Amino acid sequence: MSDFKFKLGFVGSGNMAQAIVHGVLSFGMLAKSDIVMSNTSGNSPIDGVECTVDNGYVTANSEYLVLAVKPQVFKSIAASLRPVNSAAVVSIMAGLKSEVVASALGICGNIIRVMPNTPSKVGMGATAIAENHCSCESNAFCRKMFESVGSTVYVPEKDFDAVTCVSGSGPAYVFYFIKAMTEGGIANGLSPEVAKSLTLATVAGACKLAEMSDDSLDTLIDKVCSKGGTTIQAIDAFRNANMDKIVIDGMTACRRRSEELGKA
Ligand SMILES: NC(=O)c1ccc[n+]([C@@H]2O[C@H](COP(=O)([O-])OP(=O)(O)OC[C@H]3O[C@@H](n4cnc5c(N)ncnc54)[C@H](OP(=O)(O)O)[C@@H]3O)[C@@H](O)[C@H]2O)c1
Repeated sequence: MSDFKFKLGFVGSGNMAQAIVHGVLSFGMLAKSDIVMSNTSGNSPIDGVECTVDNGYVTANSEYLVLAVKPQVFKSIAASLRPVNSAAVVSIMAGLKSEVVASALGICGNIIRVMPNTPSKVGMGATAIAENHCSCESNAFCRKMFESVGSTVYVPEKDFDAVTCVSGSGPAYVFYFIKAMTEGGIANGLSPEVAKSLTLATVAGACKLAEMSDDSLDTLIDKVCSKGGTTIQAIDAFRNANMDKIVIDGMTACRRRSEELGKA
């Protein structure tokens, strides 16, 4: 039996914290009374979940603690979060290495660094969890929490800047492509509604097919491109414009920025 008043506490109750809370509640993993959150107003963003302006109350009373404020906010409030006695501290803050978070909190070892992404809001998140030295029980709790909002994968923490440029920032690239494809539909005579609807269904269907098929991505592309047909015209135009390189260069710039933020 735990001595803590709450199973799970969040310092910060914004977009990402709310997505996780909705996930664990709808998964039936925890009840509302198991959770506490903090923010600057003390107004709870989720009916029935306790919320406070007192971060110390959250840290003192939570068996598992999630740090869900912006990295720059964390740096200014870290001292006020001490002492932290939680079984594990889960940090979702972009760019901050676990050792930096642990040292700011005056703890050692029981930190789990995690990089979720915004599709967590609709239960389709892709979350990377850094390999760590926490107990099996803490890792099982953390993994279950993020599986309630999507899929999870363990990676070495040294790869987190690369993770940021793939899944952390990735939803924006996909939205960008969806927007371009929708505009392509409109430019070729469709109404905005039909263009967007067909684009969204096509992207969702292509993702599902890529996930379920044994074919490589190249084979999947080839299977849509019959020789002398229509699709190859578009694919050739993308290849001639070096679209792969443009995407890779953009992602590399993203990874470099993540590295810079980690050093700041
Ligand atoms: N959004 C993403 O795509 C994404 C992806 C991966 C990781 N992350 C990380 O997740 C973290 C949260 O991001 P978010 O998008 O959820 O941000 P957000 O929506 O801006 O939420 C930030 C939260 O922090 C609270 N806050 C600010 N100052 C505080 C203080 N002194 N004490 C307690 N709470 C305070 C805010 O409360 P008020 O509303 O009262 O100001 C708000 O609830 C960030 O570190 C980010 O790097 C985000």
